[in-house]
Amino acid sequence: MLKIANGIWKITFGTPEEFTPVSMRKSRIAQDGLNRMKDSDFPFSEDMVRFSASVRGITVTLPMQNDEDIYGFGEQLLSLNYVGRKRHVKVNSDPKIDTGESHAPVPFYISTAGYGLFVDTFRYATFYMGTNTEKGVSRTRREVNTSHTEFSESALYALKRLKEERKIIIEIPVAQGVDVYFFAGNVKEVVQRYNLFSGGGCLPPMWGLGVWYRVYGGSDENHVNMLAEEFRKEKIPVDVLGLEPGWHSHSYSCTYQWSCLFPNHEKMIKKLTAEGYHLNLWEHIFVYPAAPFYQDMYEYSGDYEVWNGLVPDFAVEEARQLFIKWHEEKLVGEGITGFKLDECDNSDFNPSNWSFPDSTQFPSGMDGEQMHNAIGVLYQEVIEESFRNRNIRTLSQVRSSGSLSASLPFVLYSDLYGHREFIRGIVTSSFSGMLWAPEVRDCVNGRDLLRRIQTIVFSPHTLLNCWRIPYAPWKQYDIEKNLKGEFMQDQEYYTDACRKLLELRMSLLPYLYSAFMDYHKTGLPPIRAMVLDYPDDPKVRDIDDQYFFGKDLLVCPLTLEDGTEREIYLPDGKWYDFFSTKVYEGGRRFQMKAGDEEIPVFVRDGALLPLAKPVLCVKEDIVFEMTVRSYGSGEAEFVLYEDDFNTYDYEIKESIAITVRRDEKGDIEYPENSLKYQFLKNTW
Ligand code: GAL
Repeated sequence: MLKIANGIWKITFGTPEEFTPVSMRKSRIAQDGLNRMKDSDFPFSEDMVRFSASVRGITVTLPMQNDEDIYGFGEQLLSLNYVGRKRHVKVNSDPKIDTGESHAPVPFYISTAGYGLFVDTFRYATFYMGTNTEKGVSRTRREVNTSHTEFSESALYALKRLKEERKIIIEIPVAQGVDVYFFAGNVKEVVQRYNLFSGGGCLPPMWGLGVWYRVYGGSDENHVNMLAEEFRKEKIPVDVLGLEPGWHSHSYSCTYQWSCLFPNHEKMIKKLTAEGYHLNLWEHIFVYPAAPFYQDMYEYSGDYEVWNGLVPDFAVEEARQLFIKWHEEKLVGEGITGFKLDECDNSDFNPSNWSFPDSTQFPSGMDGEQMHNAIGVLYQEVIEESFRNRNIRTLSQVRSSGSLSASLPFVLYSDLYGHREFIRGIVTSSFSGMLWAPEVRDCVNGRDLLRRIQTIVFSPHTLLNCWRIPYAPWKQYDIEKNLKGEFMQDQEYYTDACRKLLELRMSLLPYLYSAFMDYHKTGLPPIRAMVLDYPDDPKVRDIDDQYFFGKDLLVCPLTLEDGTEREIYLPDGKWYDFFSTKVYEGGRRFQMKAGDEEIPVFVRDGALLPLAKPVLCVKEDIVFEMTVRSYGSGEAEFVLYEDDFNTYDYEIKESIAITVRRDEKGDIEYPENSLKYQFLKNTW
């Protein structure tokens, strides 16, 4: 056993494989952050962790307690707590069944027994989380003739809480050895340690936290310009415009070159940039024969094509550099500030069944199975490097991610669309260093539109993905009618209601930026499951539809199916309604009504909450006009961070801490001399 850092240990079994998340990592362990955490002891005795090898691969077993709950395994849309369940760590673009497969599965879990475990592999590992007991454990059992009283499937088959000696069994195919990493602490500390081990959380540029709007796939430059003008005219905040596949001269697979729909793209980029927009371009990794670097990439790609394109091997430096050079010089050079990395997940269960076989051989020596679980992260690293080389921060999108990805400035998304699942995705992704976008597309009706926008406003990514509709969903949420340009009679009502919600997002930007700075420094996710803040409250352990947004806000979104009422659980203490002055006593569950335009959001007692006057977009010379709300009494502080909001300089010289304080008497002390934040000293 080897101590890697404060509270992190590694055990090596057999001879690990050459290609693993740790052996290929580009990020460095955030040692400073780990050193700031309190010391912990190794959570097991070493002999409790067992290992065996066979022709099938290897198996690692660990003990499991009766009252253990289990979280993690990356982005999971279908459940939260995996005690008594099996998880299969395999990338899948279409995770409709709760097997553990997902856009971004990670062989990492957190146990409420005081530890976390990361298996350093790209293999399709399987974790049996207390589903099995070993032979002999039950040999003294003699109960007979006990009649069945409950007939639900879960009652008949559940082992979840049975007092038996359950095991955690981890199977890793193919490999004949593996490194296993242990993280000590409660759920929160384990997540922090894992994220710091991964390099610390990413810090997006301030504009990335604003509103994103992906335009219709069939757009030409006139349509993009028209939408851009309309948003400014109608005072709808938008920071990022996303272009879909049509910007490529060929897509599926891609050329990474502008199509005839954008003959004046350079002019368009300049004009939109001057108006405060950022441009994001859709692409995928598969390189079409007409792409400028196809010939050079040929020898550095796998031995199968996807959609007539090459699959670059980003484990080979030459392949990385071909991609980086083109993106950096051509596209970032033209003023593009982000990309949407599509289809780097796998599609075994999709009717069209694209992507490469697991048996694919790549020049580096990786096989298709390993590449499927690695490609999302390798691709993100390549794209980030094309920005980093120019000292420009990006926030971009990606459809697959995996191990040790916390420091990568990318948000995950999906073609699935269940609102309830999307809310759960916000919660589950927070355990494994990932950000999730519960994106809004077309909607069933007006209520659905408002409910979904409320969720994106309080999520890592305020993204409207309108790639299938030419006009904004607040003008027409129905796809067919939107395509025909038929607008709703009450479009004005919905435009106003959506504008109000998007303005709310803009007022939260500096607050959220602080949460991301904490993520970067301490590994605490900016938007996170309740169990991270209340690891000792058993009532939050299964909550997957409420979550913390930044330091002090607890968000409880509603879906169309909820109607205008939902159950809320508030932990012990006093809580304040974000939208009124109403006070709630915590430590209880209750029903709460919320009209279509309302989302229940609660503020922690004692909080200082800095809110900005909403702007239409974050320009480089932005100065936020801040108001501070004070909740409850006693000494308190809130730290805002001032830097250029755009470059990587914060890594070299610390961002300036702008601290708002409340003293014992309740008086607020506002910081002077900030260049980016101006405080209006009216109390709320
Ligand atoms: C999908 C992606 C959508 C959209 C579409 C364009 O794969 O998930 O968001 O970008 O491609 O073809």
